[in-house]
Amino acid sequence: MGTINPRPVYDNEGTEEAIRQRKIIEDLKTNPKRPKSFFLSTMGCQMNARDSEKLRGILLSIGAEETAEEKADLVIYNTCCIRENAEQKVYGRLGYLKSVKRKNPGMKIALCGCMMQEDAVIEKIRKSYPEVDLIFGTYNLYKFPELLETVLESDSQIIDIWDKQKEIVEDLPSVRKSSFKASVNIMYGCDNFCTYCIVPYVRGRERSRKPENILAEIKSLAQSGVREIQLLGQNVNSYGKGLENPISFAKLLEMVQQVDGIERIRFMTSHPKDLSDELIEAMGSLSKVCPHFHLPLQSGSDRLLKAMNRHYDQQKYLDIVRKLKETVPGISLTTDIIVGFPTETREDFLETLKVVREVRFDGAFTFIYSPRIGTPAARMEQVPEEDAKKNFSELLKVLEEIGEENNRQWLGKPVEVLAEEHSKNDPSMLTGRTAHNQLVHFVGGSRLIGQMVEVIITETTPFYLIGKQKNLLD
Ligand code: 5AD
Ligand code: SF4
Repeated sequence: MGTINPRPVYDNEGTEEAIRQRKIIEDLKTNPKRPKSFFLSTMGCQMNARDSEKLRGILLSIGAEETAEEKADLVIYNTCCIRENAEQKVYGRLGYLKSVKRKNPGMKIALCGCMMQEDAVIEKIRKSYPEVDLIFGTYNLYKFPELLETVLESDSQIIDIWDKQKEIVEDLPSVRKSSFKASVNIMYGCDNFCTYCIVPYVRGRERSRKPENILAEIKSLAQSGVREIQLLGQNVNSYGKGLENPISFAKLLEMVQQVDGIERIRFMTSHPKDLSDELIEAMGSLSKVCPHFHLPLQSGSDRLLKAMNRHYDQQKYLDIVRKLKETVPGISLTTDIIVGFPTETREDFLETLKVVREVRFDGAFTFIYSPRIGTPAARMEQVPEEDAKKNFSELLKVLEEIGEENNRQWLGKPVEVLAEEHSKNDPSMLTGRTAHNQLVHFVGGSRLIGQMVEVIITETTPFYLIGKQKNLLD
């Protein structure tokens, strides 16, 4: 796998628990039953992507090789449960795996991630999918070496799901997907209980990592050549509240700004209700923090925002946007929007469209509401699917028009792109992102990957930009 750096690194010095798991990793290296190959599939958000880097780090450490297909000694699905279709995908893959395992009975199947924190899912797998060997959850991911060792010795299905986090284990090996761009968890869990969302039930209460651990990780990444850092949390704006020495997210950004070698700082996700003026000021004054803000709107209707338990209204959202645009001129704004939330009327939806038109988002993740068992919204009055679908297509159309107009302003302008990889459709092109988080395609060779490249925009579309390297134009 081309982009994977196969040398696992330990992020920090160890806690007792991590030392125990590391010892098991050492034992596994010489265990004749250890998997020699593994296939790892990651669904869902960047939290899961980061967790998978940890699983990959452990497996590469014990000498297993990653394969591109499910024909491997160990197959792991790191699952997501935010919407129903994510879950259906897992059951579909399990059906297929059954036939693969019939041909290769020694193969082990493991499931982990958010979906495994749901009781109903565990029941279903226990009853209907006996071919699954190991199930673990989001809180005990760091125990993977120990669970793997147990599975190798056992013929029965092993299920280890915790209902909450016992401790934050800092320092297991992980293999980062990219050598120049890295995600760093700053907190886990969420306390907001938006009524549609299952995350607080499967990722638990909010827990912040200590700033010194975060900084040590970022410094070591910077020393290994990482130039862009993405700070991850379900709600980064409330970072630091529960710490022994509480600090704000803005202060954390200031500390990260000081790390030599880091050129760009991004973060995900912010909740409008916790967004402080201090953070907006920090966005304006910290040179490395990218001029891009992802601010989930979910809905523009005050009535629905209340039913969603979001703790802000349309006016408050628009006020934040105004302040952000004033403090960081030209800032790029992206969002998340749900269409078809229970009881949504055409008038509610038009309020959402109104905000979309007023803010002129540069991008949006859009979702049709999907009821999640156990969340309050699943028990509210649902809306007809056709209405949701109709509104959804209308929203996409408006977003596309705005995206096209916004992007057209970049025509002829120079931008700095961190070149990330060859374009999937055309290997002679490279793809990367600007500080504003726009996707840019331009002609270039492998040696530019990982470099900041000056590009002049020559063509625009609603969703990405096309350009030419500046020095090739001179
Ligand atoms: N249905 C549809 N979209 C959802 N999201 C969260 N839960 C649901 C759900 N039940 C969306 C929200 C959130 C994003 C990560 O996923 O927009 O911000
Ligand atoms: Fe879910 Fe709301 Fe928490 Fe985001 S803030 S993870 S939408 S509960």
